[in-house]
Amino acid sequence: TASAAELHERILAAKAQLGDRVVTLGHFYQRDEVVQYADFVGDSFQLANAAKARPEAEAIVFCGVHFMAETADLLSGPGQAVILPNLAAGCSMADMADIDSVAECWEQLEELYGTEPDANGRVPVIPVTYMNSSAALKGFCGEHGGIVCTSSNADTVLKWAFERGQRVLFFPDQHLGRNTAKAMGIPLEQMPLWNPRKALGGNETAVMQDARVILWHGFCSVHKRFTVGQIEAARAQYPDVRVIVHPECPMPVVDAADEYGSTDYIVKAIAAAPAGSTFAIGTEINLVQRLAAEYPQHTIFCLDSVVCPCSTMYRIHPGYLAWVLEGLVRGEIHNRITVPAEVADPARVALERMLAAKP
Ligand code: 13P
Ligand code: SF4
Repeated sequence: TASAAELHERILAAKAQLGDRVVTLGHFYQRDEVVQYADFVGDSFQLANAAKARPEAEAIVFCGVHFMAETADLLSGPGQAVILPNLAAGCSMADMADIDSVAECWEQLEELYGTEPDANGRVPVIPVTYMNSSAALKGFCGEHGGIVCTSSNADTVLKWAFERGQRVLFFPDQHLGRNTAKAMGIPLEQMPLWNPRKALGGNETAVMQDARVILWHGFCSVHKRFTVGQIEAARAQYPDVRVIVHPECPMPVVDAADEYGSTDYIVKAIAAAPAGSTFAIGTEINLVQRLAAEYPQHTIFCLDSVVCPCSTMYRIHPGYLAWVLEGLVRGEIHNRITVPAEVADPARVALERMLAAKP
């Protein structure tokens, strides 16, 4: 196997040969050894926009996870190839909602609420999918009057949905859904977790009648590790600490933090802080460690002292990056992500609704 130094030379050489023919995108959670080669690094929302930005490039090499590459394929120019350097880079949260289960849930909700709009023209339910989901689910939303959101625009998107619907079905991440709806003033009793067995019978019917946001049971295994106890420990050690967490964290953690926001929110908050600030961050470790290295004038640490990487983001290794880039130099496309047209068309509708939604 090639050494790190050899891979570095090979990636630089391939990128130099390819020039503007290829654009390399990287999510903030990618390891430093990969981020250094990205032409653009950002959060999920910014990367979706970046995928639209260079339609003349032959290929987009996406250093991130599968749902992000699918989204890039949906938004990229015609004929442009989107490449995921390692096809095993998925997202366990995205896998927690599959199209069959969501379609079955939808059928039960239609039985429960009917399909007729109310006096204000609002339909019974609007489906909202977090970006962290398969293209099939984005397509489902496109077909059923719904929309996509990311962690940076979930409140804007929920407002969009409530202008058009009486309720929202939010999947896959229960925590982002709950945290966002709570911040909008929706009481917890009106955000039941979807329970397919009980939904149509017994006491559950009353709960469902009052529901404003019906939450899917998905979660992120990285962000669910953060606890209120960790926040208390950070405050005990550093009384002036600023605690910022990602909204994929459980609600008590978000409530105990000073602020919450997408990865880009976290990056910008740190960049704007006066020198000598102390931050305890509740998100993926590669981003936190990079910020700590970039801002030595601050004290920055991860709330979870046991290192918690996103294991699937980590599957993008420089070796795979070298392999796909060198393939492109030879005119070979490896690991192309293509969303089939019957899914792509409605999925694009849901994504474009998100991109057009105004705060
Ligand atoms: P961001 O949109 O905040 O980058 O989040 C993506 C993600 O997967 C967080 O776990
Ligand atoms: Fe998915 Fe969580 Fe990894 Fe984000 S951090 S890609 S939600 S598993």
